[in-house]
Amino acid sequence: VLMALRLAQDEYGVMDEAVIRAVGSYLELPLAQVSEVASFYSLYRHKPAGKYRLAVCNSISCMLCGSESLIRSLEVHLGIKVGEVTEDGLFSLHETECLAACSMAPALIVNDETYHYNVDEAKAQALINALREADHGA
Ligand code: FES
Repeated sequence: VLMALRLAQDEYGVMDEAVIRAVGSYLELPLAQVSEVASFYSLYRHKPAGKYRLAVCNSISCMLCGSESLIRSLEVHLGIKVGEVTEDGLFSLHETECLAACSMAPALIVNDETYHYNVDEAKAQALINALREADHGA
């Protein structure tokens, strides 16, 4: 169920009821069984996200090293709050639990795959600019 949900999320971008139903139907499992798995794990996204999902760790090491102010600066720079998507659909901002990069706090991960360490406001803005440029070049 976990892998099927993950593949469906990668394909459709969001874990809405239609996706959960489709996974349940494919696996021949009751909707409730698939739905409770989908709602338990925080890595399943139940709201639309941006093309680039920026998730800032806000667990203790990162918090002590400035993740709160990093998140606030990202909110200002992107013009959105945590959990929202930019108007152009390019970025969404999220908080996440420990990314196991505590010695390089604050840490940020893009699309659950690409880690960035010791992120300050300047590094975050450079990252956003680089992702925008990469997107325009795509
Ligand atoms: S507390 Fe942020 S990576 Fe561990």
